[in-house]
Amino acid sequence: MAFAKWSWICAITHVTLLATVSALTQKTLQIKRNFTTFYAEQADWTFNHLVVDVRTGHIYLGAVNRIYKLSEDLKVLLTHHTGPDEDNPKCYPPIIVQPCNEPLVYTNNVNKMLLIDYKENRLIACGSLYQGICKLLRLEDLFKLGEPSHKKEHYLSGVNESGSVFGVIVSNNNDDDKLFIATSVDGKPEYFPTISSRKLTRNSEADGMFAYVFHDEFVASMIKIPSDTFNIIPDFDIYYIYGFSSGNYVYFLTLLPEMTSPPGSTTKEQVYTSKLVRLCKEDTAFNSYVEVPIGCEKNGVEYRLLQAAYLSKAGLILAKSLGIKPGDDVLFTIFSKGQKRRMKSLDETALCVFVLKQINDRIKERLQSCYKGEGTLDLAWLKVKDVPCGNALITIADDFCGLDMNAPLGVSEMVRGYPVFTEDRDRMTSVIAYVYKNHSLAFVGTKSGKLKKENSQHVVPENAKLDNHR
Ligand SMILES: *[C@@H]1O[C@H](CO)[C@@H](O)[C@H](O)[C@H]1NC(C)=O
Ligand SMILES: *[C@@H]1O[C@H](CO)[C@@H](O)[C@H](O)[C@H]1NC(C)=O
Ligand SMILES: *[C@@H]1O[C@H](CO)[C@@H](O)[C@H](O)[C@H]1NC(C)=O
Repeated sequence: MAFAKWSWICAITHVTLLATVSALTQKTLQIKRNFTTFYAEQADWTFNHLVVDVRTGHIYLGAVNRIYKLSEDLKVLLTHHTGPDEDNPKCYPPIIVQPCNEPLVYTNNVNKMLLIDYKENRLIACGSLYQGICKLLRLEDLFKLGEPSHKKEHYLSGVNESGSVFGVIVSNNNDDDKLFIATSVDGKPEYFPTISSRKLTRNSEADGMFAYVFHDEFVASMIKIPSDTFNIIPDFDIYYIYGFSSGNYVYFLTLLPEMTSPPGSTTKEQVYTSKLVRLCKEDTAFNSYVEVPIGCEKNGVEYRLLQAAYLSKAGLILAKSLGIKPGDDVLFTIFSKGQKRRMKSLDETALCVFVLKQINDRIKERLQSCYKGEGTLDLAWLKVKDVPCGNALITIADDFCGLDMNAPLGVSEMVRGYPVFTEDRDRMTSVIAYVYKNHSLAFVGTKSGKLKKENSQHVVPENAKLDNHR
């Protein structure tokens, strides 16, 4: 979502920032003192996703109708065409597989997901054409290794919004890797599970590419939105803002509509709630599915609409101030004020930090109390809001991955992040962070294309120091 509308990149901003995954050095900062800029071929062919190969520094950019490979200083090394092409979003299965009666029009291919599969040296690039099929491209030369498209598992989502799909690769030493896919369904829950785990086969042309990790009559590695949910909220969908893996788990950060009653009222109104979703990497039945509401508050103002997030480690100084160990996982998040409007989020935004372990501890407490029979499963959209927790004599350790009882489970109480700073006019829309010499640095991009810092005027680049924020 954060990058939905950008059509240029600048070497010092997004690229260098995203390259920080590969341990940004002082040297790269100096080399990049002069800005290099790379523009889209057509103004409306905006950039959707950007990934950096941490081994080579090469930049892969997923745009409308194009995939680019760029050098560190933004020279175009290769261009791969993905569209436009004749299609109609109503054609399911897509026109490349089966004739379709809908009128075909030249349709843009919006890049919806771009992932580097390091183990197989390939790029997974999924687009909006043909119900969301993906190309597997060799990193070196963008040669097309495969483009699975003939089975329903190959259609990942029909949505053409670039910020609606998130994928996380989970590596497996002996077996095929897995790809967790989380996506908006755009009113088609019968075609697309909102969250699923898929096989990522070594062979890019294998028939089983993107097959569900497990699937039989009763159990499958997926969650679909029940059709009943649409009776209560007709435009229900789940918007996936971010995803990552850590320890035994895969996590997604989402925004979804909910019906709530304002305090002192009995009438219900629709709001958006930000949630963290957690699944065990090894769970093929998705019994480990847990949701936790997240938000942030500063000076009595509630920031509840998630805009962007980034997983990082705590530097020594931040760790001390949060009472955690250096190197512990922390989530940097941007929230916008209130929880009413998703598409027109307010400009008042807050940068907040979550300690992942604290969220995991909260989930563990809830699992323990639920397995003592306390409370309900409390997940309205999965139709288990009022289903009572069942009692079972089992020990819930840190690695508990759920049973078919008490699943899926919602944590009722919101986990609050630590607010770092707020911005009231130029809405913060993206965040990236890394540790540099004991310091935790967060770079925040805003709606107007600026980079932000805590206590300085608009000089670019600026580092937001998170130390001593309490
Ligand atoms: C930046 O550009 C200016 C003007 O083109 C040039 O004189 C200077 O050497 C450049 N600096 C770096 C670090 O490349
Ligand atoms: C996405 O689809 C809608 C409806 O078909 C269309 O109006 C819109 O222009 C599309 N967006 C892009 C970026 O192609
Ligand atoms: C980080 O902090 C430790 C402990 O205070 C100190 O010994 C070390 O020199 C610091 N590292 C840097 C790069 O400043």
